[in-house]
Amino acid sequence: MALVFSARLTDEVDLRSWDPVMAAPMVRALNENRNHIRGWLSWPHDGYDLDDARWFIERQLEVWARDGLMSVGIWRGEDLIGGVTPNSSRPGNKSVALGYWIAASEQGKGLVTGACRAVIDDLFAARSMHRIVINVHPENVRSRRVPERLGFREEGTLREAVCDDHGFHDWVVYAMLEDEWRARP
Ligand SMILES: CC(C)(COP(=O)(O)OP(=O)(O)OC[C@H]1O[C@@H](n2cnc3c(N)ncnc32)[C@H](O)[C@@H]1OP(=O)(O)O)[C@@H](O)C(=O)NCCC(=O)NCCS
Repeated sequence: MALVFSARLTDEVDLRSWDPVMAAPMVRALNENRNHIRGWLSWPHDGYDLDDARWFIERQLEVWARDGLMSVGIWRGEDLIGGVTPNSSRPGNKSVALGYWIAASEQGKGLVTGACRAVIDDLFAARSMHRIVINVHPENVRSRRVPERLGFREEGTLREAVCDDHGFHDWVVYAMLEDEWRARP
């Protein structure tokens, strides 16, 4: 399989851009981790299947072709264990929001922080992005630590900006600008 992007994260874990053949491992990973992810994100829905995974992968390939934004899976061998996805509603602003997840059993190893770092490097250096945002549920303490560890600035709270399975809730906004990323120690 010729991937657009792949990079080693650790001796056993690597990042790979999406390919339609990845639909089956994606269904497996999301079904195994549905409750863990659904605590904080409104997907994957019950009955997430191959069509859903293929739809997601095709959207990511379209976004890559159109906007040059690279979404990656985090892989341990042939097992998909997580993902980092940049989203942009207005690419002209050169601003993207990052979303991420990791399998429950793979938490606490720095894999998401490392994967975000690689994706952010690519977005600033190769895609000419100017601003990267991470929006987090205020009570998602584990997730808040990811932008904090990466040196993002907490900019404020959007009140009741999101409506999900649990009703309306706030979003804490963290952001990093390109010159701040270059200047960090
Ligand atoms: C949010 C989520 C991605 C965080 O995962 P995580 O494993 O805590 O994050 P990381 O992979 O960056 O790992 C960080 C942990 O590894 C530790 N670690 C070990 N080696 C490390 C290294 N080389 N670099 C950074 N951290 C390292 C850190 O100390 C940290 O542990 P701590 O939280 O106990 O201090 C995960 O909990 C998740 O998938 N949740 C469900 C979905 C979700 O909430 N997504 C985000 C929505 S905004």
